[in-house]
Amino acid sequence: MERHSQDRVGQTGQPRRRGVFSRMLTLGVLAISALMVLAACGPDVEKPYTTLSPASPTADDVQGLYKLLFWMSLVVFVGVQFAIIYLSMRYRRRSTDTKRPPQIHGNHRLEIAWTIIPAIVLLVLLVPTINTLYDHDAAAQEGDIVIDVYGKQWWWEFEYQEDATQGGESLDVVTANEIWLPVGKSVQLNLQSNNVIHSFWVPRLSGKLDVIPGHVNKLSITPTEVGEFYGECAEFCGAQHAWMRFKINVVPQDEFYAWVNNWRSSPATTIRGEASDQVVKAPDTFAICLTCHKFNGMEGSTQPEGITAPANVGPNLTMLACRETIGAGIMEMTPENLAKWLRDPGAVKPGNYMADMIKPGTLSEEDINELVTFLFAMQPEDGCGSAEGWSGGTAGTPEASPAASPVASPVPGT
Ligand code: CUA
Repeated sequence: MERHSQDRVGQTGQPRRRGVFSRMLTLGVLAISALMVLAACGPDVEKPYTTLSPASPTADDVQGLYKLLFWMSLVVFVGVQFAIIYLSMRYRRRSTDTKRPPQIHGNHRLEIAWTIIPAIVLLVLLVPTINTLYDHDAAAQEGDIVIDVYGKQWWWEFEYQEDATQGGESLDVVTANEIWLPVGKSVQLNLQSNNVIHSFWVPRLSGKLDVIPGHVNKLSITPTEVGEFYGECAEFCGAQHAWMRFKINVVPQDEFYAWVNNWRSSPATTIRGEASDQVVKAPDTFAICLTCHKFNGMEGSTQPEGITAPANVGPNLTMLACRETIGAGIMEMTPENLAKWLRDPGAVKPGNYMADMIKPGTLSEEDINELVTFLFAMQPEDGCGSAEGWSGGTAGTPEASPAASPVASPVPGT
């Protein structure tokens, strides 16, 4: 076998050398193509889940570590590839070789070298990583604004607590899946769960942090850019894990407090587009909703047994019509889609808890119509705010709002 292959090599010595050359050429072309593909992966804010375009100091730090890891890996990769190519060419079997090369086993110096070098590489990565971890943890122990975040199955509840920049007064906003934050203020997020483990992740604003039952994990975010930032659950948490998305609108501070005031003064006493003193009456069917949901200014929510977290069972419905999506990102918020959800929530988002209560036929078409009209009427008098939502339209017939799927929109002007 050995001899046979040597003969073959000997006879075809010339073509084999050309083979090496063409292989090197192929490798070179592949490497250049790979570089071009990688170059296309640059920072792009049009990709809402990109980690390459940080918009907060926390995300900058994560990006810094990533860059360090990337460049060190690149040096190691290029070094190893170069060594492989150089050695295989330098010591390749030539057509004149007739004997096997000396068979060597073990080399202490080499083995020590390739143990120590990776250890140094890992140490260089470890020190800044641990520093960053501790820095972020220390930063998360306080914040201008405190928000309790509850991971639910499968949506997010946000309860705004005290605002140190407003004399420590509680902002007293409870909402779901879509929140507003003021640019330039530090926000302390207290992540908690009363069900399974989730993971809170807004790629452009922070690293991932687990949301664990029985333990509060603290995360600090100081958004430095006005814009829309998308987040999602990053830990498998059940059937609808993929539809546990959320959105953060970072707005100028005055817009933020306008939003807070709108939330606190809701329910609006007017139907949009009609006489400003017209009082909206909740339909009787709304009592069914209030067994699980809360709505600012309306009583009726009772905590079913077994729910221990000081939170709503279902998402708080105040200013619901101002949200961009229904079901934590699964559909665009339109009257048609809201009706679809109320008709059969289990068909839209299989396995969600509301589907245990509301089956097809539980609510009549008339009930659904009344509820949708009512919920869309309950908006702030001056609309949902300038950063998002529609600024016109009357109850029940809003203008088309942006697409339901989290696709980043251009950052609104400041
Ligand atoms: Cu919550 Cu995945």
